[in-house]
Amino acid sequence: MHNSKFLRGFRQTSVARMWEFMNSSEDSDSDSESDSDDHSAVMDIVLGKARLSDVDSIVSIFLNSLDFLDFEDRDWIEGVVRKRSKRVRIYVARLGNEVAGFVLLYKKRDKAYIDAFAVDPRYRGIGIGKKLLSYVEEILKQEGVEKLYLTVKNSNNNALGMYIKHGYRIVSTVLVLESLVNSINGDGLEQSKKLVKVVEARDAFKSRVKLLDTSIWTNFTWDADSAIYKAIKREQKSLVIYIGKRLAGVVALSTNKDHVVVERLAVSYYMPAESIKIVINAVKEYIEDRGLGKIIRIPVDSTKATMLQTLISLGFRIVYSEYVLCKNLADEEEE
Ligand SMILES: CC(C)(COP(=O)(O)OP(=O)(O)OC[C@H]1O[C@@H](n2cnc3c(N)ncnc32)[C@H](O)[C@@H]1OP(=O)(O)O)[C@@H](O)C(=O)NCCC(=O)NCCS
Repeated sequence: MHNSKFLRGFRQTSVARMWEFMNSSEDSDSDSESDSDDHSAVMDIVLGKARLSDVDSIVSIFLNSLDFLDFEDRDWIEGVVRKRSKRVRIYVARLGNEVAGFVLLYKKRDKAYIDAFAVDPRYRGIGIGKKLLSYVEEILKQEGVEKLYLTVKNSNNNALGMYIKHGYRIVSTVLVLESLVNSINGDGLEQSKKLVKVVEARDAFKSRVKLLDTSIWTNFTWDADSAIYKAIKREQKSLVIYIGKRLAGVVALSTNKDHVVVERLAVSYYMPAESIKIVINAVKEYIEDRGLGKIIRIPVDSTKATMLQTLISLGFRIVYSEYVLCKNLADEEEE
């Protein structure tokens, strides 16, 4: 695949050996920047939009970064690259023919959100991530984006350090809650359960009723994700839950092995705690009836006190948290 000696060598070395390799002029191609200083590795990086031929490498970097990222499968990644949507895109850093890192981002009007960002473990710590991040920030800024958001798992201190160094600030926290589906507490709902109606819907979120969202993610991802799901012909499970004629809430579910992830949960402003209980119990029955999974996971913004209290009272436990960071691209002067 890689015809230059330079790249073959590059691939096989560890980062430390790679420096040795890159700085030894006898192994370099004549047109490579053999005279340049230590930054030559960074100089050879080409930044741009992902192509279909990059998909396998992106998947493999994803698979090598699972401690820090939530996995998106190959079809999904390919769907994003094929779709060429302005709202969801992937940018890559290339070293020769090889993808060394990628950023998956969403854009919505003057805001954007980085959903996934990783560098191949062999090339971490040599400036590629910083270059790629600055590159996407510049593109988004040119497009009028003022605020760029992302989230970092609470255990990922290196990435957190990098973002803070890069001008990002922690603006909130998302708590990720989980429960075994069969241990969700349905006490006291006997009466209202009789009135509950669950409707599968395509556009549950086009509802005109004002709904409370649970986390930052879905604000950015929902519309764009729907388009990708359609393109890759995958079913997205969207449920609208009523108590009698009253709308209690809407949920979007995705499944990943034993986990059912509530990608979006929005409940009525009217009696929110009651609505949450009803919605979650309706989801529980829906999952059980179809054998969709054993564990239900719900990310919730830490400011949503009622939502958190109610879910914990239903038996959910916090399993980890993520910092939400934001960089104001509009007043970025120094860099
Ligand atoms: C996070 C990641 C994308 C960064 O890419 P990278 O190419 O390794 O990063 P770079 O070499 O460009 O820069 C890292 C910067 O962070 C700084 N940094 C690293 N660890 C740090 C820490 N614990 N505290 C403070 N700063 C830290 C480094 O000092 C460096 O800045 P400097 O060069 O100005 O000194 C990469 O390490 C990675 O893929 N990690 C696994 C996946 C991941 O965590 N993704 C982010 C999910 S939100």
